Amino acid sequence: MLKEHFGINEKGHLTIRGYDAVELAERFGTPLYVMDEDRIRENYRRFKSAFSSWPKLLVCYAYKANNNMAICKILQQEGAGAEVASLVELKIAFRVGVPPEKIIFNGPNKTEEELREAVENEVLVNLDSMDEFERIVAIARRLGKTARIGFRVNPNIKPPTHPYIMAGARESKFGLDLESGEALEAYRRASVTKEVRIEAVHCHIGSQILEPEPFIEEAEKIMEFVAELSRICKIEKVDFGGGVGIPYKGETPMPLEKLGQEMVMKVKRVVERENLEPPTLVLEPGRYLVADAGILLLRVGAFKERTFMPSWVYVDAGMNALIRPALYGSYHHIELANRMNEEHNCLVNVAGPLCETSDILGWERRLPRPRPGDIVAVFDVGAYGLSMSNQHTAHPRPAVVLVSKRGVEVIRERETFEDLTRLDRIPAWLI
Ligand code: LLP
Repeated sequence: MLKEHFGINEKGHLTIRGYDAVELAERFGTPLYVMDEDRIRENYRRFKSAFSSWPKLLVCYAYKANNNMAICKILQQEGAGAEVASLVELKIAFRVGVPPEKIIFNGPNKTEEELREAVENEVLVNLDSMDEFERIVAIARRLGKTARIGFRVNPNIKPPTHPYIMAGARESKFGLDLESGEALEAYRRASVTKEVRIEAVHCHIGSQILEPEPFIEEAEKIMEFVAELSRICKIEKVDFGGGVGIPYKGETPMPLEKLGQEMVMKVKRVVERENLEPPTLVLEPGRYLVADAGILLLRVGAFKERTFMPSWVYVDAGMNALIRPALYGSYHHIELANRMNEEHNCLVNVAGPLCETSDILGWERRLPRPRPGDIVAVFDVGAYGLSMSNQHTAHPRPAVVLVSKRGVEVIRERETFEDLTRLDRIPAWLI
C-alpha cells in the first residue's frame, strides 16, 4: 500500500524519504505538512519522459496544486514552466526564476491588474471569454505592446471524475464553446486584431482522471480544431491542460507511457495530414507532480469509544488544513505514524477540531485503537492541501517542511496570532 518513498523503521514508525515522521512531528510540531523533494523530482521526470517522443514539449507545473515557493523552485530547477492563475502565482513564478516564455496564465476571469502584469512581461495568456479579450486588447493598446494570447476551448468531454472537478463538459463554466462555433469566432476576431498575437489553443478537461481515453478524445478534438484554425491563423502551442490523477485508494495508476504515446500520435496525425508546422505540446500537470510527495502529520487529542457506530478520534487540524474530504468526499489514506505495525482493529472516524459537522478527514477507517498523543499521518496531500487551506476559527495554517537526500528544512513557517490578526483594524471610535 505504501509508495516507494515511505517505509517503516525499527520503532514501527512511518518514514518518509528515510526520515522518521514521528520525530519530524516532535521537532517541528503539528499540524505539519511534510513534502519529499526527491519524489517531486521523480514524478516530474517520469511525467515528462512519457511525452518526450514529441520534440517540442513544454511542461508547465500548475501552481494551484501547491504554490509554496520552495516547491515551485524545485520544479523550476527541473526545467518546468509555470501554469499560473492569479497575480501572486505569476509573481511567484518570476521570483523563482521561471522565464516569461515558460509561463502560461490561465483562469476564467482575470483582473485588469493580472492582465496588465502579463502583457507587460510578455506572458502568454489563455483567454476565457470575449470580455477578457476586449480587456486585454485595451491594455495592449494602452501599453503599446502586443499581447500573446490563446483561447480556452470547451470541447464537451465528460471524464469520469467528481463533478466539482470536471472542467470540459459543455455545461461547465470554462472556455469558449467548440461545438457551436463560439471558439472559432473568437479566433477569427483575434486574427484581425493587431493588438494581439495568437499563439495557442488551450483546453483543460478536468482533474483526477485515471484513464487515458478522455485525454485522447481531447487531443483528437483539439487537433481537428487546430486544423480548422490553420486556415485563419498559425497555432504554435497546443495546450492540453492538466488532470492526470493519482491513486488515492489503490486504484490502477494512469498508464502514463500509453497516454503520452497516444496523445502524441493524435497530434502527429493531424500535423502530417494538414502539413502543419509541428506545434509545441504544452501540458499543465499539478496533482501528478506533488500529491503523493506530501503527508500531513497531526496529533491525536481525544478518543471517544462508540459501539453503535465508528468511534471518534480527534486530531489537531481538519478541514482548515485539508478541505478535500469535506468538499469532495475525497479519500486520503490515514495511519497512526507511531504505531504502523500494530493491529488495525478499531473502526474510527477521524475528525478535526472545528465546530463543523463536515470537519472530518476520514470516515470509517481501521486503525490501532488511538490514544491521545499518537501521530496521525494523512497521505497524498501534497496537492490541493495547503493551497486550499484556510483559517477557519482562526486556526493558524500548518508549517511545511521539506525532506530530501540533502536534508530537512522548514519551507513555510507555522502561522501565528500576529499573522492572523495583522490585517485587522479597529476604528478609532471603537477604542
Ligand atoms: N490547468 C488548468 C487550467 C487547471 O484548471 C488545473 C486545475 C490544472 C491545469 C491542474 O490540474 P491537475 O493536473 O492538478 O489535475 N481542488 C481540486 C482540483 C481542482 C483542479 C483545478 N484545476 C482537488 O483538490 O481535487
